[in-house]
Amino acid sequence: MCGIVGYIGGNEALPILIEGLKRLEYRGYDSAGVAILGDNLEVIKTQGRIKDLEEKLKNVKLKGTIGLGHTRWATHGAPNDINAHPHYSESKNIVVVHNGIIENYLDLKKMLIKEGHTFRSDTDTEVIAYLIEDFYEGDLLQAVKKAVNMLEGSFALGVMSRDDKTRFIAVRKDSPLIVGLGKGENFIASDIPAILNHTKDVIILENGDIAEIKRDTVNLYNLKLEPIKRNIQRINWSVEDAKKGGFKHFMLKEIFEEPRVIKDAMRGRVRDGKIEIPDLALSKDFLKNVNRVYFVACGTAYHAGVVGRYATEKFLLLPAEAEVASEFRYRDPVIDKNTLVFVVSQSGETADTLAALRLAKKKGAYTIGIVNVVGSSVSRETHDTVYVNAGPEIAVASTKAYVAQVETILLVILYLAKLSGKLGRETEKKYADAFLKLPELAQEILGQSDKIAQFAANMKTIEETFFIGRNLDYALSLEGALKLKEISYVHAEGYPAGELKHGPLALVTSRSLIIAVDTYTPLREKTLSNIKEVKARNGKVLSIASEGYEKIKDVADAVFYVPKTLDELSPVISVIPLQLFAYYMAEARGLDIDKPRNLAKSVTVE
Ligand code: G6P
Repeated sequence: MCGIVGYIGGNEALPILIEGLKRLEYRGYDSAGVAILGDNLEVIKTQGRIKDLEEKLKNVKLKGTIGLGHTRWATHGAPNDINAHPHYSESKNIVVVHNGIIENYLDLKKMLIKEGHTFRSDTDTEVIAYLIEDFYEGDLLQAVKKAVNMLEGSFALGVMSRDDKTRFIAVRKDSPLIVGLGKGENFIASDIPAILNHTKDVIILENGDIAEIKRDTVNLYNLKLEPIKRNIQRINWSVEDAKKGGFKHFMLKEIFEEPRVIKDAMRGRVRDGKIEIPDLALSKDFLKNVNRVYFVACGTAYHAGVVGRYATEKFLLLPAEAEVASEFRYRDPVIDKNTLVFVVSQSGETADTLAALRLAKKKGAYTIGIVNVVGSSVSRETHDTVYVNAGPEIAVASTKAYVAQVETILLVILYLAKLSGKLGRETEKKYADAFLKLPELAQEILGQSDKIAQFAANMKTIEETFFIGRNLDYALSLEGALKLKEISYVHAEGYPAGELKHGPLALVTSRSLIIAVDTYTPLREKTLSNIKEVKARNGKVLSIASEGYEKIKDVADAVFYVPKTLDELSPVISVIPLQLFAYYMAEARGLDIDKPRNLAKSVTVE
């Protein structure tokens, strides 16, 4: 996720771009840059935030009334000056800003290198600039059309040419982009807040739209360059509302981003019935000798690791443990050079997680980071890193990062199982196909969020909750309970369903709410028996069950059905109702959802 802004009109472009970028900083903030077309086509960019860019701009005079700006959240290539956008083409005649992921960029890059081109950055974006230049024969619009037809993946693009001061070109596929319509000036932006000060009239581009942005006109085309029409919408949001996409809180916005997040986590990894993790360098030979696997992490990331533990046992047939990093770092974990340690972290900066990683390395383990923030400490220090590509997460309570972590861990484990000959071709295909369906299933769940909201509103005075489940549903129970306590301050415990009778059952009364997660088919009858135990003590039960499990309706007070997928992939989507439940409980209780008391997004001290 990055932020793009573009301007053409009668005013100096630079201040307009900088103001827009500041309002898009929530979309990414590891580097920023602008390109201005005046007497020359100049690019100024830097690692860091918009204020660092402003600092750099103090020493340069950038004059021109047409320009593009970008604030980056890295996906390919570390956050540094060179990888920052805008990217020049090889001859510096074209510049490109990009939000999204080009899945086939390595193939395209290889092709261009073969043709004799030399690249400057590690990004996927640079390939786009080079391709456009390759196709350029005096008409930018034609060149962009030809280039984008070669791209696979997601992209929102802004493209400018040194030779053409009358227009710039924008393209959208799977990454958001809007056109802002002014008087004698026009804009593009990744999101509405960037341009709200200048205009309230916008066109929301759709997938496959190409926009030719001139000072007085905007022309829209499809990917074949046939003219198309889109409606103009009038936006009456405040800037703050616009940043949250019209949602009341960032947390809810981030939960609703999950279908997109699920897609991005598998980009370039699931294709043609195959699962590949191109970012992984770990060798087949090493894998042969691995005899133990750990997942170390804190908080929500730890709960993603618990899913990893089950998946490792199931697919890699290896002993596996999930460990809280603050415990792990002070134990004497049995680790040697045949140990594989997954280090899971959204920020990549959590102090305990980093300490656990260093301990594991010192003892000789091979480490793989499952990380969201590109270039973060965990990603720099692990032997390998697989990014989860969730985009910046702003709400303190982690939601979309968890979904992306779980999905990425499952992909990596399945890929390693394949590498070590433990996953047959048929099974790989079965899982690959099921992954591709997950975004749609997540959307289906979100479409029923009002049911959860209603249930939460009815339960808002409850003070005691238990989340129970078995196997992967237990992993989900841990996360469901954590979400609820973090933001709604309701006491919540995640418990293995079978363990309830060994203690917590004593606490169950008519004032208790039990959230029973029952999506894991092999054990659903077992969990059903545990639900009956609760009902016999007058506890209230909300069950999260898989579609088609009708029996549970007769036992639980309420059932929320999640669409059916393969059992092992279910956590990726079954967590959504739990996240929504926590959110709506906190909302019903009138709490500060995005900034819960006593908690911080990233804990960089011990
Ligand atoms: C804090 C956050 C949690 C997060 C945990 C680990 O406690 O509030 O949401 O899960 O840190 O953070 P990490 O960035 O390492 O995933």
